[in-house]
Amino acid sequence: MTGTAMDMRQGPGSGTETASPVVLEARDLKRYYSIRRGMFAADATVKAVDGVSFALRAGSTLAVVGESGCGKSTLARVVTLIDEPTSGEMRFDGRLAAEFDGRTLRRKVQMIFQNPYGSLNPRKKVGQILEEPLEINTSLSKAERRERAHVIMAKVGMRPDQYDRYPHMFSGGQRQRIAIARALMLNPEVVVADEPVSALDVSIQAQVLNLMMDLQEEFKLAYLFISHDLSVVRHIAEDVLVMYLGKPVEHGPKETIFARARHPYTRTLLAATPRVAFEDKPQIPPPKGELPSPLNPPPGCAYHRRCPFATERCATEVPPLRPVDGRLVACHYAEQMA
Ligand SMILES: Nc1ncnc2c1ncn2[C@@H]1O[C@H](COP(=O)(O)OP(=O)(O)O)[C@@H](O)[C@H]1O
Ligand code: SF4
Ligand SMILES: [Mg+2]
Repeated sequence: MTGTAMDMRQGPGSGTETASPVVLEARDLKRYYSIRRGMFAADATVKAVDGVSFALRAGSTLAVVGESGCGKSTLARVVTLIDEPTSGEMRFDGRLAAEFDGRTLRRKVQMIFQNPYGSLNPRKKVGQILEEPLEINTSLSKAERRERAHVIMAKVGMRPDQYDRYPHMFSGGQRQRIAIARALMLNPEVVVADEPVSALDVSIQAQVLNLMMDLQEEFKLAYLFISHDLSVVRHIAEDVLVMYLGKPVEHGPKETIFARARHPYTRTLLAATPRVAFEDKPQIPPPKGELPSPLNPPPGCAYHRRCPFATERCATEVPPLRPVDGRLVACHYAEQMA
């Protein structure tokens, strides 16, 4: 099924104008890893991403949420072409990824990583860090590159004199500004942000998120925003995609999902989010136990050993992702999740 939640957003009351074009469409993306288990054991397969579809519109944000190990970063690497999908399709501006030359495509999609300490080369000054993508991907002169760096620095709230400083001279929040500036140097259409504020103090998180929202509006950026924190998502996303063990389990407009989540896993994520003011707070116990090993996922619904609503059917029958109440959801009992 490639029906996307984005299609549903055009329904009455969605509050979304139909104008923005889809800049990135993913269909049934999969990324499997083969794991060697030793000399005498057969190789095992980790289905890190297992059938993810979405459509991302210019100027909008799709949040991908799920606990650690659910496949979010793998999805980010596939979408940003750092890693190749095992199967599935990606279209940029309606054209298949394979129809572009690599350089053009890499300009369209940029990534911001979680850790602003690790993602910036400590031996390079801010100016060099920002100009590097231009050196590699454009024929701009040194002076033109420098000018562009200063323009983008101003856009992210940096001063001109910071051009000659090294990353270690900045705080975490400022370093993430540098990373954001670097992502914008090539004028991308899509920015994939993998937990961009998770490593920052809560007081700094809002500043960086506000900056990202301002930049989104100014440059009509589409964000694939990855987070395990639904309170962050609430402020910035139009759509939400909840993943569990590589699979989408709930996907749709944020308002619809926050008003009444239909998948028990989404509900536990919401219940575990203290800063979310929840209309009719569901009394949901936290998920039982740990995330199962992705090397040996449970049969039936992968969530059934942790789910408070599981029945025998759940242990054998895989729930398909299907439309229920304005979103897509993969639970046999989605209708009953009142
Ligand atoms: N390069 C890799 N080789 C083997 N397994 C991987 C690789 N990258 C990720 N995985 C596995 O895929 C699953 C999803 O990982 P990841 O995408 O990092 O999840 P998340 O970002 O949601 O924490 C995990 O079980 C992880 O161990
Ligand atoms: S299908 Fe069953 S186990 Fe899976 S989320 Fe729904 S109720 Fe829980
Ligand atoms: Mg991750």
